[in-house]
Amino acid sequence: MEQNGLGSKMRAGILGTGSALPNKVLTNQDLEKIVDTSDEWIVSRTGIRERRIAGATEATSDYALLAGQRALASAGIQAEDLDMIMVATVTPDMMFPSTASLVQDRLGATHAAAFDLEAACSGFMYGEFLASGLVNSGQCKYVLVIAGDLLSRITDYEDRSTCVLFGDGAGAAVVGLVPKERGFLAFHLGSDGAGGKFLYMPGGGSRLPASQESVQSRQHFLKMEGQETFKYAVRAMGVSVERVLSDAHLEMTDVDLLVPHQANVRIIEAIRQRLHLDPAKVMYTIEKYGNTSASSIPIALDEAVREGKVMQGQVALMVGFGAGMTWGAVLVRM
Ligand code: COA
Repeated sequence: MEQNGLGSKMRAGILGTGSALPNKVLTNQDLEKIVDTSDEWIVSRTGIRERRIAGATEATSDYALLAGQRALASAGIQAEDLDMIMVATVTPDMMFPSTASLVQDRLGATHAAAFDLEAACSGFMYGEFLASGLVNSGQCKYVLVIAGDLLSRITDYEDRSTCVLFGDGAGAAVVGLVPKERGFLAFHLGSDGAGGKFLYMPGGGSRLPASQESVQSRQHFLKMEGQETFKYAVRAMGVSVERVLSDAHLEMTDVDLLVPHQANVRIIEAIRQRLHLDPAKVMYTIEKYGNTSASSIPIALDEAVREGKVMQGQVALMVGFGAGMTWGAVLVRM
């Protein structure tokens, strides 16, 4: 329900996007020197050629801040105008305070509330959903949704089945009111905790706090069952896409650009074929950045905007999945 006092003229939408990536590149050839793998295996099984890795003294908030600043600049909004900052992350700077609070301070967003949200790689979609609700209800005018992860920090570089997949980065969007012809058209979010065992990090929480033993047994690195996660991803993303299209009374042919989570090019291709989409209507960043967790979708969206692959008035469909399991889709007219 709209309570923003503007009747049917305005609704929540994306005002601007931004992203930030480390300069350091980790190539498949670099990984060949670390684990028993090959460029050929990685490219054919995942589509990844290289990924970006943050410097040793950097943290998630450094990239979240940059992405946020760039999104604000592209929206033409000042930090002091923000009512809310959310950071979707599984690699916060520390357990607390929230990475969003650190970003709020460094941005100078003196009127903004701030909190982190954790829905793994689906976090950006969860954030957009919340931001849309806050803006449409009139409770917030401007919300900054940031997704940032330094997955290199929880990647086990002795485990060849996972270490080739992940990279670091952040992406962001400012959500505010736009003319009703544009804006968010539909959302679908899902979760199935029974799938949590396929992708998780055992150590560092209240169940298994850090100890010498937990460190030695490598419990502070992510663990994944790749094939189960793969099947889950294709199924869940397909459901979400169908739901948002049907809720918005649109067909796939009405979508100008699909912006999928970048986990594996074979997952993206499975979705693309299921939707009978031309590759030109799909955003791919996996080859150069790998899987950057929650930030993969906003990084891809920001690149699409900057490269003119999705223009004002066109329809973008974001879809992703992640640990939890969680998944979701966002349909928006830019
Ligand atoms: N280099 C070389 N060989 C590797 C390897 C690597 N980096 N990683 C695994 N292998 C080997 C395995 O040991 C296995 O060998 P075996 O047959 O002798 O036992 C073989 O390659 C096949 O492994 P498998 O796990 O079946 O490969 P796969 O085709 O399923 O690809 C993933 C593995 C991880 C790339 C794929 O399952 C995947 O992308 N899953 C989804 C992951 C994902 O999306 N995660 C993020 C969620 S947000």
